[in-house]
Amino acid sequence: MVSRTLALALFSASISHAAETVLGVYMFHRHGDRTAKQTPPANLTDLGYTEVYHSGQYYRSRYVASDASLKISGLNSDIVLQSQIAVSAPSDTVLQNSAQGFLQGLYPAVGAQLGNETLANGSSVQAPLNGYQLIPIALTPSGGGSEDSSWLQSASGCYNSITSSNNYFTSADYQSLFKSTSGFYDSLTPVINRTFNASQINYKNAYTIFDLINVAEIHNSSIHAFDNILTNDTLFQIRTLADHHEFNLAYNVSEPARAIAGATVAAQAVQYLNNTITANNNFSGPRLGIQFGAYNSFQSFFGLANLTAASEDFYGVPDYASVMIWELFTNTTLPSSGLPPQDDLYVRFLFNNGTSATTTVPQVYPLFGGNAVDLKWTDFVTGMNKFAVGTTQQWCQTCGNITGTCAQFASTPSSSSSSSHSSGNSNGISTAVGGVIGAMVTLAVILGAEALLLLLFGLRVRKKIELP
Ligand SMILES: *[C@@H]1O[C@H](CO)[C@@H](O)[C@H](O)[C@H]1NC(C)=O
Ligand SMILES: *[C@@H]1O[C@H](CO)[C@@H](O)[C@H](O)[C@H]1NC(C)=O
Ligand SMILES: *[C@@H]1O[C@H](CO)[C@@H](O)[C@H](O)[C@H]1NC(C)=O
Ligand SMILES: *[C@@H]1O[C@H](CO)[C@@H](O)[C@H](O)[C@H]1NC(C)=O
Ligand SMILES: *[C@@H]1O[C@H](CO)[C@@H](O)[C@H](O)[C@H]1NC(C)=O
Ligand SMILES: *[C@@H]1O[C@H](CO)[C@@H](O)[C@H](O)[C@H]1NC(C)=O
Ligand SMILES: *[C@@H]1O[C@H](CO)[C@@H](O)[C@H](O)[C@H]1NC(C)=O
Ligand SMILES: *[C@@H]1O[C@H](CO)[C@@H](O)[C@H](O)[C@H]1NC(C)=O
Ligand SMILES: *[C@@H]1O[C@H](CO)[C@@H](O)[C@H](O)[C@H]1NC(C)=O
Ligand SMILES: *[C@@H]1O[C@H](CO)[C@@H](O)[C@H](O)[C@H]1NC(C)=O
Ligand SMILES: *[C@@H]1O[C@H](CO)[C@@H](O)[C@H](O)[C@H]1NC(C)=O
Ligand SMILES: *[C@@H]1O[C@H](CO)[C@@H](O)[C@H](O)[C@H]1NC(C)=O
Repeated sequence: MVSRTLALALFSASISHAAETVLGVYMFHRHGDRTAKQTPPANLTDLGYTEVYHSGQYYRSRYVASDASLKISGLNSDIVLQSQIAVSAPSDTVLQNSAQGFLQGLYPAVGAQLGNETLANGSSVQAPLNGYQLIPIALTPSGGGSEDSSWLQSASGCYNSITSSNNYFTSADYQSLFKSTSGFYDSLTPVINRTFNASQINYKNAYTIFDLINVAEIHNSSIHAFDNILTNDTLFQIRTLADHHEFNLAYNVSEPARAIAGATVAAQAVQYLNNTITANNNFSGPRLGIQFGAYNSFQSFFGLANLTAASEDFYGVPDYASVMIWELFTNTTLPSSGLPPQDDLYVRFLFNNGTSATTTVPQVYPLFGGNAVDLKWTDFVTGMNKFAVGTTQQWCQTCGNITGTCAQFASTPSSSSSSSHSSGNSNGISTAVGGVIGAMVTLAVILGAEALLLLLFGLRVRKKIELP
């Protein structure tokens, strides 16, 4: 009798506190350690390969393996089912190879027993490389060659974004930092003068200078000859100046087109998880989406989703092999078929700075400047759709592009059109031009107070976060 009551109590407890079930995951992954951008072609190094491979192993232990800590419901554990996963990367060697290295850890070789096929005539065949699994990596439309281009926005092909990022170079913030840091950059000359000439050693190249020194600090023992110049303080300054430079090229609160890279990733995450939902727990439905891409997609998403309100660390360039993760989950017991109602579906955002296996594990952060880390699916979609750019038409409108694939969405060209990009298009070029004019006006007004600004930014730049 007693034991029966206990059993009942346990049973009801297990209903009201049903264990969480992860239904689908979308992740956006940075490449592993690579050679410097300033010495193209950039290559994934052995260290970088190891990082992404370990990352794949970590996410296998989190989502894929039969004993995974947050096993994605219904996802094949050993032999990959292609329709359940989607992997993509731009046409870029570093990113494509990173994706491949990651997959080797996520779905490793299955061994002789599983990688064994019996033919009609009765003989058996073993898959090569101990059952190595072949997983296709789709090409993402933008971002080609991004690891070889010192300026990531050029890889976006988005007219208004490129214009908007360019506006940073005429901003008061840029102009004053350029001046106040010129002595600092000059002091780095002996370290970088084999790669950069005198006219390049300044804040304009903050990222590529950081990148070159960062790569040398990791790979080249000769860098120690410059330890007197490259003190920890100086290295920190080089990094935070690059962070500030890149964040401003990737995101600006009043010019949403600048963050096109993050806006498209946002749409891709929503679309993938929505496909997971609409497949309604069909065995072969999509469950795990993985995209590899460059750090500007991270930084522009951080800006758009107001993650900088959650932690000032989001102003920084994410480390190699960093990952943004969106987990779709439910706390309700799964019905015998299909999924629980949409009201019971939640999404949480996680970020892992660096390689999971060696340094950290993903941390949960609240999106959209709020406090909640578990967002109802519908609230998540509403928040993301405020800035997501998911269709070609939206992209063309945001970017102000009117030729090629975008020609079909261009409104009837006005004969007075003065620029090939300006048509009657809603919020196209006008925003970008407005930005240029705005920046110039601001600059003119501010020139008088330059001395004050110099002092202000000169001081601020010593701190980790320079943004006002
Ligand atoms: C990257 O690899 C290519 C060969 O594939 C080589 O030519 C190039 O020098 C390498 N880049 C660096 C920076 O080592
Ligand atoms: C492969 O399958 C065949 C037929 O089932 C079996 O006889 C053979 O032992 C298997 N090979 C391995 C390496 O497991
Ligand atoms: C069975 O078929 C495979 C593929 O056609 C062939 O390579 C193999 O020699 C055949 N085995 C026998 C015993 O006929
Ligand atoms: C958008 O316009 C820019 C500037 O004309 C051009 O360089 C880019 O290739 C266009 N992108 C697409 C996808 O057509
Ligand atoms: C770089 O700077 C060092 C120290 O100032 C100097 O000795 C060297 O000749 C310079 N190298 C080049 C390529 O300019
Ligand atoms: C510095 O290098 C850049 C790129 O190679 C070149 O365009 C520029 O003319 C050079 N400047 C000087 C002063 O040599
Ligand atoms: C390492 O740095 C030294 C001095 O800065 C340079 O001569 C050498 O070419 C570098 N080695 C590599 C592999 O980049
Ligand atoms: C500089 O940083 C390194 C690594 O973080 C640390 O090991 C070293 O002690 C620091 N040096 C000084 C002088 O603070
Ligand atoms: C999810 O997909 C369905 C079917 O394609 C579509 O009707 C719906 O609008 C999508 N929802 C979101 C939030 O994208
Ligand atoms: C990630 O790490 C880099 C380098 O340590 C740092 O600058 C950045 O702020 C970190 N970002 C987050 C979100 O923790
Ligand atoms: C789901 O359940 C976990 C405990 O199992 C709890 O920490 C979390 O807050 C719940 N989330 C929601 C959205 O109910
Ligand atoms: C970001 O969130 C903070 C805190 O909720 C809020 O004060 C701020 O206005 C938000 N910024 C944007 C651009 O939405």
